[in-house]
Amino acid sequence: MSVAPKHVAVIMDGNGRWAKQRFMPRVAGHRAGRSAARKTVEYCARHADIDVLTLFAFSTENWSRPEDEVNGLMELFATALNDELPKLQENGIRLRFIGDWSRFSNKLQAQMHHSQEVTATGRRLTVQLALNYGGRAEIVRASRQLAEQVKAGALQPEAITEETIASHLYSRGVPDPDLFIRTGGESRISNFLLWGLAYSELYFSATLWPDFDEAAMQEAVDWFATRQRRFGKTGEQLG
Ligand code: IPE
Ligand code: IPE
Ligand code: MG
Repeated sequence: MSVAPKHVAVIMDGNGRWAKQRFMPRVAGHRAGRSAARKTVEYCARHADIDVLTLFAFSTENWSRPEDEVNGLMELFATALNDELPKLQENGIRLRFIGDWSRFSNKLQAQMHHSQEVTATGRRLTVQLALNYGGRAEIVRASRQLAEQVKAGALQPEAITEETIASHLYSRGVPDPDLFIRTGGESRISNFLLWGLAYSELYFSATLWPDFDEAAMQEAVDWFATRQRRFGKTGEQLG
């Protein structure tokens, strides 16, 4: 029986359309999305059962957006990180970045390292921010690491299990997402957490991300509680 999710993963989509509706530049939509992200973190921190929240903030494919939007997003990440860090520390929130950092400016990378270090002891909630993250890229990276080990004679191919692969992913050490939420009306995964989403409950909301508030989050969590997770078994087996 599913009751509450332990890991919630969110594709925060719809910022651009939210801005367009208001005749504002797309980056204004991203700025408005920041407060929705804060509310979601607060909701999950207060919820006793939720241990992990993963937020998709920038995909490997988002680099192909107009340069001013990409630059605006990079600035927003730096500012938001700087402003929110003390509150995250105070509230026992552990921050973890998943994705390939190497394409970000040295300054942003340093800030990301620092934020992870100073929040490392947080036990209330783990927030994974997916930045320059791609689900396929993550699996390619894990495969390369394992191939290197096989080449060096440290790993037998027969010894590779699902657990071995999971332990080489960015989000190693945290359970798979129980509840996946995508806002903004699209019903697709857009290269998010391909491995971990294998058995997640998928929730799609038409609400644009900047408008996604606590009530909307509560609705998703309530919907999750009505799902029967069978993991291949029959409903009868689960009683
Ligand atoms: C999601 O909102 C945020 C990022 C991808 C960074 P979008 O910017 O994709 O918003 P829409 O889909 O264009 O409305
Ligand atoms: C997914 O949204 C990525 C993030 C929310 C960061 P997109 O807006 O980039 O996805 P597509 O292009 O509509 O599939
Ligand atoms: Mg979008």
